[in-house]
Amino acid sequence: MSDLPLKDVADLSEDDARLELERLAKAIAAADIAYHQNDAPEITDADYDALKRRNDALEQAFPELVRTDSPSGKVGAAPAEGFAKVRHGVPMLSLSNAFADEDVEDFVVRAKKFFMADILRDPGFKLEFTAEPKIDGLSASLRYENGVFVKGATRGDGAVGEDITENLKTIADIPHKLSGSGWPAVIEIRGEVYMTHEEFRRLKEHSAKFGGQDYVNPRNTAAGSLRQKNPEITASRKLRFFAYAWGLAEDGNGNSQPPAATQWDFVQSLRSWGFVTNDLMLRADNAEALIAHYRMIETQRASLGYDIDGVVYKLDRIDLQQRWGFVARAPRWAIAHKFPAEQATTILTGIDVQVGRTGALTPVARLQPVTVGGVVVENATLHNEDYIKGIGNNGEPIRNGVDLRVGDTVIVQRAGDVIPQIVDVVLDKRPADAQPYVFPHACPACGSEAVREHNEKTGKLDSVRRCTGELICPAQAVENLKHFVARDAMDIDGLGDKQVTQFYAEGRIARPADIFTLRARDERSIKKLKDADGFGATSVKKLFDAIDARREPELDRFIYALGIRHVGETTGALLAKEFGTIEKFRETALAAAQHEDGHSLFPQISGIGETVRSSIMAFFANERNVQALDDLLVEVKPKPYVVVVSADSVVAGKTVVFTGSLEKMTRSEAKAMAERLGAKVAGSVSAKTDILVAGPGAGSKLKTAQDLGVEVISEDEWFERVGK
Ligand code: IVH
Repeated sequence: MSDLPLKDVADLSEDDARLELERLAKAIAAADIAYHQNDAPEITDADYDALKRRNDALEQAFPELVRTDSPSGKVGAAPAEGFAKVRHGVPMLSLSNAFADEDVEDFVVRAKKFFMADILRDPGFKLEFTAEPKIDGLSASLRYENGVFVKGATRGDGAVGEDITENLKTIADIPHKLSGSGWPAVIEIRGEVYMTHEEFRRLKEHSAKFGGQDYVNPRNTAAGSLRQKNPEITASRKLRFFAYAWGLAEDGNGNSQPPAATQWDFVQSLRSWGFVTNDLMLRADNAEALIAHYRMIETQRASLGYDIDGVVYKLDRIDLQQRWGFVARAPRWAIAHKFPAEQATTILTGIDVQVGRTGALTPVARLQPVTVGGVVVENATLHNEDYIKGIGNNGEPIRNGVDLRVGDTVIVQRAGDVIPQIVDVVLDKRPADAQPYVFPHACPACGSEAVREHNEKTGKLDSVRRCTGELICPAQAVENLKHFVARDAMDIDGLGDKQVTQFYAEGRIARPADIFTLRARDERSIKKLKDADGFGATSVKKLFDAIDARREPELDRFIYALGIRHVGETTGALLAKEFGTIEKFRETALAAAQHEDGHSLFPQISGIGETVRSSIMAFFANERNVQALDDLLVEVKPKPYVVVVSADSVVAGKTVVFTGSLEKMTRSEAKAMAERLGAKVAGSVSAKTDILVAGPGAGSKLKTAQDLGVEVISEDEWFERVGK
């Protein structure tokens, strides 16, 4: 704030007052954050009080300018010991649940039956329903008298709740005064107090840092925050509020006055009064559309940033709601379509360690089977040994640093299609004799030493422990074979994970080369494949033919299929393009592997960096790998990589240089495109250059080109010329 003496409130124009209130709201909010969230006050208590007093004075003089996020009363006086009881003007009900699509169809059919007479009488009669997310928080009822928030309560037993007015006042989404117009003289606004995932994480991290309590989930944390005796604590936890219903609604004479004709209109009104409502609301007149909306919301569930546990369908017209009425404690006219639960508690019965293709040891949790989100979960990924210890990838604590022990009661989570995770341990239930898990330092498949490499780039220990057995390790061998035959690699029809595992176990194949000698060996063998489990003469012939059909694979696929660490499909293609033939690739890589500065022998390939080069050299430094490749090359002849060039393009045969920043394509895309069109792409401008494509920021190359009289065109002109 400026140091100028403040004008007397009475001398302020409305515009000045509005601006000052805005400034005050920001300044007070910033001070609140510094004080409550960062534990680092930026202004003195006296200055803070002065800001608040000025804000109060302005609000009193200009009541119509009170902001919905007004700082006044956000941090009020602490409520007296315990919470006073509040009787709701109209009880807060619960909802009946639907779990299956049929339950939703039934609901719509029941409505049609109930209103059958209306439907028959009036062909234009429409039964519409709203569908809106069911927020997983705490319901609250906010009483407004003449547009002013006077009392807020928890749901309690539905009839009587607890007075948490002061705490609710700290929630920015809850207006202290309603804006707009048209609200009944007295209205109870109902909605859900919740905590966003972001805020939950922030709180958890903060707590972990200061050794505070552990927070289990956003809902419980929101509940705890809302029932704080000290509203300053509530204020520091940035709770949110979605409004979606009302209870009592009366005019000034105490007569019932429904605030809208439909639920849909009511939600629009809520918005105009200054409430936050949920955007994912739909109105439809049939069960299919409601269910489709439910599915849509379900797919978005993980990315909404707050928890929801289903979708609520409500009959849209308020007069019809009143006619349809209630059963016990729930309305007939609404139903909650629940999502299957995504978290469940179970027991960690064991930890197994699996060995991957590149030797990575991955621990897997064995769980007492439990249904999570409608699926039975028996395993969960544990990532690596640090994860079991409660250490994250960057060394930060996870699960508050709590380790996992066999016998622990754990909370399993399944979000969407993601592999189930263990998100928490119930420490109270840890058996007294549970032992810390000791991660093996020897490969469980071959017994070779398993090590954590030092990562040269980060200077840290790799989070992954790897088996050093390579080809002698049966686990790595099988995984390698699976990778070799996979769809995106050699793509051998009829030879998948299952067959590879079986053939390896039966001693029919151990290395990729063996796949291609299978037919010849089978002919001589007495243990014929056609007699093996799951095979017959026809399927065996088909398999052998499929194998033979892949004796001349594309070079890029072949390189990828070798399973060199860090060489994925894209890198495989870059290498194939650079070297053209497998012989050239083998020769260069082998020479580099045997050279003390191998990197210098390796051509600079855009898109391929040190990690990939080192990995290729490490692969070729291992004689067994080279032998396996050479044996394979006796059977398989990868096709030389040819760039398909169109000879008739206007740039065919021309030498092109790209410089400056390109805006429509990356440098490597530009290069690939020019080459496809038959042009040669050079790195520097010389007398031989035909075209310089110059983007913004072009420097010395542009100058040289101009000096040499080379044609210079822009990126756009390039596209025009090549007709893209
Ligand atoms: S309507 C009479 N709409 O679900 C019906 N409730 O199981 C009043 N809830 O106590 C509730 N999101 O806490 C309604 N969009 C929504 C909701 C919602 C969450 C909660 C509410 C209620 C509970 C019923």
